[in-house]
Amino acid sequence: MQLLSWRIWVICNVALKATAIDIDWTSDSSIKEGAATLAYGLLQYYTGNETGDVPGNLPDPYYWWEAGALFGTMIDYWAFTGDDTYVDITFQALQHQVGDDGDFMPQNQTLTEGNDDQGFWAMSAMTAAEMGFKDPDANGKQWLALAQAVFNEYVWRWDTSTCHGGLRWQVFTFNNGYDYKNSVSNGCFFNLASRLARYTGNTTYADWADNVWNWMSDVGFIDNDYNIYDGASDTDGCTEIDKSQWTYNAGMFLEGSAAMYSYTNGSEKWEQRTNGILKTASTVFFNNSVMFEPPCEPQNNCKTDSFSFKAYFVRWLAKTTQLMSSTYDTIHPLLLASARGAALQCSGTATGTAGRQISGSACGQHWVSGANYDGTSGVGQQMSGLSAVFYTLVKGAPVPFTSVTGGTSTGDSSGGSAKTDKTVAGPPPITTADKAGAGILTTLVLGGLGGGMWFMISE
Ligand SMILES: *[C@@H]1O[C@H](CO)[C@@H](O)[C@H](O)[C@H]1NC(C)=O
Ligand SMILES: *[C@@H]1O[C@H](CO)[C@@H](O)[C@H](O)[C@H]1NC(C)=O
Ligand SMILES: *[C@@H]1O[C@H](CO)[C@@H](O)[C@H](O)[C@H]1NC(C)=O
Ligand SMILES: *[C@@H]1O[C@H](CO)[C@@H](O)[C@H](O)[C@H]1NC(C)=O
Ligand SMILES: *[C@@H]1O[C@H](CO)[C@@H](O)[C@H](O)[C@H]1NC(C)=O
Repeated sequence: MQLLSWRIWVICNVALKATAIDIDWTSDSSIKEGAATLAYGLLQYYTGNETGDVPGNLPDPYYWWEAGALFGTMIDYWAFTGDDTYVDITFQALQHQVGDDGDFMPQNQTLTEGNDDQGFWAMSAMTAAEMGFKDPDANGKQWLALAQAVFNEYVWRWDTSTCHGGLRWQVFTFNNGYDYKNSVSNGCFFNLASRLARYTGNTTYADWADNVWNWMSDVGFIDNDYNIYDGASDTDGCTEIDKSQWTYNAGMFLEGSAAMYSYTNGSEKWEQRTNGILKTASTVFFNNSVMFEPPCEPQNNCKTDSFSFKAYFVRWLAKTTQLMSSTYDTIHPLLLASARGAALQCSGTATGTAGRQISGSACGQHWVSGANYDGTSGVGQQMSGLSAVFYTLVKGAPVPFTSVTGGTSTGDSSGGSAKTDKTVAGPPPITTADKAGAGILTTLVLGGLGGGMWFMISE
């Protein structure tokens, strides 16, 4: 018996030594040190700040939206840890991608851009306003104004012609998924609307947060038990719902509801909704308090995009505790158990972009497996591992500002009004045979808006 436990002790100790991210969870400085190692690893995938490269882009296979999400993570990384190593490249990336109309629809991206893609960049701009991130000078686009422009465009795109409302997944008729209405696009709208309401105090934003919630509930994408499903095709009136539950959908509605709770000075309605989502999410997405991605992780078939979803769920859980403090006692143990699993899982070695090495701190996906590194690596896993670790610092972190509690970002509530995308004429609609299942992906269209040449590659 004694010999056996001694052996177990040796094995555990060896396993710990092999782990590059060895964190003392009672020490903020130890957590920050671990996070710094993971952040360094994450940025080994990014070369956009190098001469000749494009700021704000990640190389293939990473889609443009994930870069927008990544720089949102880096804003919070700076705000939560005080490490300003990546402030300049984060600022440069976000400003480079604002596009001619100040709405995160740069020419290089518009032809494949969905409402959710645009939303992830806009939510990062909103985070910049809330966290007091470095403001651009008068030549740049202001963070708050960027978020408002995207909000305004969502209002124009709200589509009552089918399913009594809702945003479509895609902006343009010629993209696969135009006929799909989904939780992530409407979640981006809801999340932005509620945070804009809280930041500015303007009731128009709060009214839209209410509208989006009511529609989500009427159409059944949020059910009575606060399960949040993926979406449905509008061709049959949104009746055949894809019931996949992804962490990030729960997260964006959770944080938005908590922002509405804060905006309303603690209304019972938003308290109930926040608690309802949290209660259900804490059973659906956790195994022994450790977070996982149910539709793909246990089956080992997550994709480039879905590897990253837990990063945002962690973020929004942490923010929820700041906006509705009664959730802290439920959320913090989930964050901590997930972070412990993630730190153990970040023990691999991987190659980033242009041969850059991540040695001994590359993150796998399976936090529930702890020290059994699953052998996978990539931006999604690394961003999720990093997020799991640094968001445990939430108790001492700055609470998101509003315009009256210290926020300095200036707005423009008419942002995006120069936009003409409602009437843009694209190429002819693709034939049914070319259509991939919604939620899978997508048509990659290369070329410039208004250009004469179109190349379409179906995945
Ligand atoms: C790009 O950013 C990385 C990470 O901060 C830094 O090490 C590198 O020197 C930067 N490159 C240039 C050209 O500034
Ligand atoms: C668009 O692509 C061109 C060519 O790669 C690049 O020079 C430019 O910086 C890109 N613009 C944006 C906003 O990404
Ligand atoms: C919340 O309280 C503040 C301060 O009393 C008040 O100015 C504001 O109007 C209230 N907000 C709402 C939505 O009731
Ligand atoms: C929870 O995780 C453990 C360890 O990976 C696994 O064996 C078990 O099947 C998981 N349980 C559920 C309900 O997913
Ligand atoms: C509130 O926001 C709406 C929508 O952008 C805008 O039209 C209105 O002017 C704003 N009101 C104030 C007082 O800023």
